[in-house]
Amino acid sequence: GTGKFFVGGNWKCNGTKESITKLVSDLNSAKLESDVDVVVAPPFVYLDLVKNSLTHRIDISSQNSWVGKGGAFTGEISVEQLKDIGAKWVILGHSERRHVIGEDDQFIGKKAAYALSEGLGVIACIGELLEEREAGKTFDVCYKQLKAFADAVPSWDNIVIAYEPVWAIGTGKVATPQQAQEVHVAVRDWLKNNVSAEVASKTRIIYGGSVNGGNSAELAKQEDIDGFLVGGASLKGPEFATIVNSVT
Ligand code: G3H
Repeated sequence: GTGKFFVGGNWKCNGTKESITKLVSDLNSAKLESDVDVVVAPPFVYLDLVKNSLTHRIDISSQNSWVGKGGAFTGEISVEQLKDIGAKWVILGHSERRHVIGEDDQFIGKKAAYALSEGLGVIACIGELLEEREAGKTFDVCYKQLKAFADAVPSWDNIVIAYEPVWAIGTGKVATPQQAQEVHVAVRDWLKNNVSAEVASKTRIIYGGSVNGGNSAELAKQEDIDGFLVGGASLKGPEFATIVNSVT
């Protein structure tokens, strides 16, 4: 693997004050391997609650951010506000924002550039649809999405790339370790050829899509899998801890 193992828990649009208080308490009492960056992304409305009750061992991410400085943008949350409540990261380009909400490459790139310029780390998500994989377009789709980030950002220092095949998200159909490794290598090669050898060797590439406590160890053994972005299984504290502790 490259750099420190990184595990993010994306809670998506799930939870209540009650369930989130329970999850925070489970995470606070979980034993987490020390050599792993651990981040959770609660829904916006619970960010402050989580920030104020969660162990400082775990950093906070948001699931989205506004594309520029805050102001008259009804319903949006600014990077400045996220920093104000203590968030360190933002997830951008998630497949649900691309394919359900309709965000495009250029908008996502702009968001990434703005968040980075204000000092937030970016979890930059890429990944192909099932029909794109079946048409043999997996690498092309990932390269196009990577290029949009690369064209927009001045530096890769504070970016983690999350490869999340859309067909594996929330489906229980996890990519095989070989399928994930193959794309992670392609992503690293793309960075080497289009950004720099240094960025290619330093940037962490994490896998997301139906990761759970039973499959994370095999995936983590792959040379180019530097961690995970976990959805469903991150809603259960002990299982999320198992995934964090699958670091090799
Ligand atoms: O951001 C997380 C991914 O979308 C994975 O979600 O673990 O529920 O498949 P999942």
